[in-house]
Amino acid sequence: MKTILVNKNNPIKDSYLKKIKLIEVKDILDETILIEKETYQAYLELKEFLKTKNINIGIDSAYRSINEQQEIYDSFLNKYGQDYTNQLVAKPKISEHHTGLSLDIGIFVKDHFVYKNQELMLYEDIYLEIHKYLANFGFILRYPKNKENITGYQYEPWHIRYVGKIPAKIIYDNNLTLEEYLTNFGGVLLVNKERGMTSFDVVHKVSNLLGIKKVGHTGTLDPIASGVLVLTIGRATKLGELLTSTNKEYIAKVEIGKCTDTLDTTGVITKEKTPSVKINLESLLKSYQKTYLQEVPIYSAVKVNGKKLYEYARNNEKVKLPKKEVTIKEMELLKSSYNSFSFRCLVSKGTYIRSLIRDMGQSINEYFCMSGLIRTKQGKFSLEDAYSLDEIESNNFHILSLREILQDYPTIIIDDKLKKKIINGSPIKNIYNIKDKVLFVDHHNILAIYQKDNDNLKIYRMLTNNK
Ligand code: DAL
Ligand code: ZN
Repeated sequence: MKTILVNKNNPIKDSYLKKIKLIEVKDILDETILIEKETYQAYLELKEFLKTKNINIGIDSAYRSINEQQEIYDSFLNKYGQDYTNQLVAKPKISEHHTGLSLDIGIFVKDHFVYKNQELMLYEDIYLEIHKYLANFGFILRYPKNKENITGYQYEPWHIRYVGKIPAKIIYDNNLTLEEYLTNFGGVLLVNKERGMTSFDVVHKVSNLLGIKKVGHTGTLDPIASGVLVLTIGRATKLGELLTSTNKEYIAKVEIGKCTDTLDTTGVITKEKTPSVKINLESLLKSYQKTYLQEVPIYSAVKVNGKKLYEYARNNEKVKLPKKEVTIKEMELLKSSYNSFSFRCLVSKGTYIRSLIRDMGQSINEYFCMSGLIRTKQGKFSLEDAYSLDEIESNNFHILSLREILQDYPTIIIDDKLKKKIINGSPIKNIYNIKDKVLFVDHHNILAIYQKDNDNLKIYRMLTNNK
């Protein structure tokens, strides 16, 4: 992954060193340097672009072996002493120059190539201009100002790091460091899943595109279904349950005259008969606008005696299918023909649309099976606001922040004293008269969600890991 983290707490792994593809290129001073392949391409594009802004850059340093880093470290140590050196130069193994993805950029000033740290500081205004465009080429400024306590190093305007365009844009737009992006970032991405993919396929793809391992989804969509899939990213993976326990809206298509083992048209046909000519679909749908006990489909991941139902089906084992109470809140016929129809429904969490369709058929002695399904809403998240994977891949998307997702809950800004209690998850008195849940925030972050518990507030979800 291009977002590999190498810092004082995360030394480079030998397995990574074996995997990187380095190429040899000549630098400005005609010395051979090694650099990761994709990083070099991105650098050339950045360099070309900056020429249009009358800025001419060159590479001073890219990949460094462990020995080279040792030499640089030792020479700084001799010249400047330990304290200063540790703020500017990484010890061998913890320098991200070992990744081949980091570059120290020098600039030409009146045809003279400037690359020495102290001298470069004189041209900070030029660097500030360069920093504005880095993300468009997949780079980030790795050691920004005022983040020294997070990165472990002083501000280095010349040290840029390739992470790929998608992570770079999120990091730049949210003013993050790589450390913060990987450990403290959180949000929700609404994806319009296409038919044929599993929900896990989507999670896997997005995780790769963002370069973040922690990506989850709430409310699975089967491969036959398309529509809004709510992905939780980073810290927001802890909100899964909060986002799932909501109503869902679907548009479903039904084929009349068939039953299958999976209750949808991807399964094996078990029964068939010609549809009756006088089905009153309007009144049938209306009669299902109710709360009822729905049998869970055998092709589902619901567990009975510790075993998933679809495993019983696979092994041809008999099992009593459990029933769950579901509420069908809205039903609307959209289109119909003699052997098919489509409808819109708003249903409670846990409703199986395949089962609803089967049940409706059974109740009028017809065979119904689902031929298509689109999820148009999950709670407050709508399909119109979801992005296709193509849009995400071309970096054209917005991740909803934790604040945006949780804006319906009251927020309390806390002082340092209360902060200590909150980040330890200790219960506190409900002096705020909170009725359900509340967000405790400091200046930058939502630290935790608490919920009412008699006269107290107790922890519901801890959203921070910085104690
Ligand atoms: N200057 C950076 C921190 C390095 O030595 O890797
Ligand atoms: Zn550097």
